[in-house]
Amino acid sequence: MALDKKVAWRAKPVAAGALQGKQVAIIGGTGGLGRALSRELAAAGARVTVVGQTFRDGNIANIHFIQADLSLMKEAQRVAALLPAEELDLLVFTTGIFAAPQRQETAEGIERDLAVSYLNRLLMLQQLAPRLGILRQQAALKPRVFLMGYPGSGQKGVYADLNAEQSYSAMAAHMNTVAGNEMLVLDGARRYPHVTFFGLNPGLIKTGIRDNFFGKGSLKSRVMETLIGWLTPTPEQYAQRMLPLLLSPDLEWYSGSFFNRKAQAILPSPGLDAQHIQQFMAASEHLLAKTGVYETTQTGSHSPATHPIR
Ligand SMILES: NC(=O)c1ccc[n+]([C@@H]2O[C@H](COP(=O)([O-])OP(=O)(O)OC[C@H]3O[C@@H](n4cnc5c(N)ncnc54)[C@H](OP(=O)(O)O)[C@@H]3O)[C@@H](O)[C@H]2O)c1
Repeated sequence: MALDKKVAWRAKPVAAGALQGKQVAIIGGTGGLGRALSRELAAAGARVTVVGQTFRDGNIANIHFIQADLSLMKEAQRVAALLPAEELDLLVFTTGIFAAPQRQETAEGIERDLAVSYLNRLLMLQQLAPRLGILRQQAALKPRVFLMGYPGSGQKGVYADLNAEQSYSAMAAHMNTVAGNEMLVLDGARRYPHVTFFGLNPGLIKTGIRDNFFGKGSLKSRVMETLIGWLTPTPEQYAQRMLPLLLSPDLEWYSGSFFNRKAQAILPSPGLDAQHIQQFMAASEHLLAKTGVYETTQTGSHSPATHPIR
């Protein structure tokens, strides 16, 4: 991944209590890297809301939990309505799985990895971004969105069979989620100028992300994760390194940029031009429409016909 030399920011330590009065939501903050980030942000004084299936930080006073199965778009829609979007300073998306060897489908008819790792993020952004941070008092910075995935790795995505109904391979399905998340950053930066958008590429880190692919607790899984654990930072080390980046005022000018696990700026994948993004987003919205969420939307903030890419 090539470094992006145009983006310059300086890491400053974040003092304990520095985030008093700040509000953060981490979609996927119950496990792995999202959980490590939520604990760092809470330790610095932020009020953190985490969304996931299983809450593991009930002993930390300023971490709050919303339970949801985000493989379902109606659940993503419910969560978007519950979150205090207007008061949020920071919105982070870390929910994810890896596609299974055999295609899995949600009750709403969506390939499961696409639903969990990408499509619910698109839906939640459509509902949250227009309102994000607009009622904050005396905020020095625009509200921020960070999307975690694998940006800058050269994935353009294939939108012709986004739901993998004609053919399926776990890697191809997962790479569509990688490309989709990178495009959400680029699209969001253009579409919502009152918000700044960034993509995070953590590289390999030992977490539960590959359980669905290798089989949770299997020999293959244990060998792989042990090797990854030997060679890479822990989720806690990664989160400590990311904290100054998440909060740096220097980032205000660089909406639409991406960062590797060392918090260095990296270049986006080639080929993600406006036309390709528009077509990928249109295919994504077509799938969302099939789940019925647009008919039941409460906010009226988005419909594919009224919200073209700029
Ligand atoms: N770790 C790596 O090596 C690596 C490499 C490249 C990119 N990434 C990216 O980094 C991000 C975070 O991954 P991670 O490594 O932290 O993975 P992880 O440890 O498996 O955590 C994933 C999170 O997603 C939540 N989640 C999964 N399925 C869900 C569902 N159906 N409904 C609601 N929440 C659900 C989990 O919540 P519960 O535990 O509560 O179910 C957990 O909070 C992902 O976007 C991933 O693609 C990770």
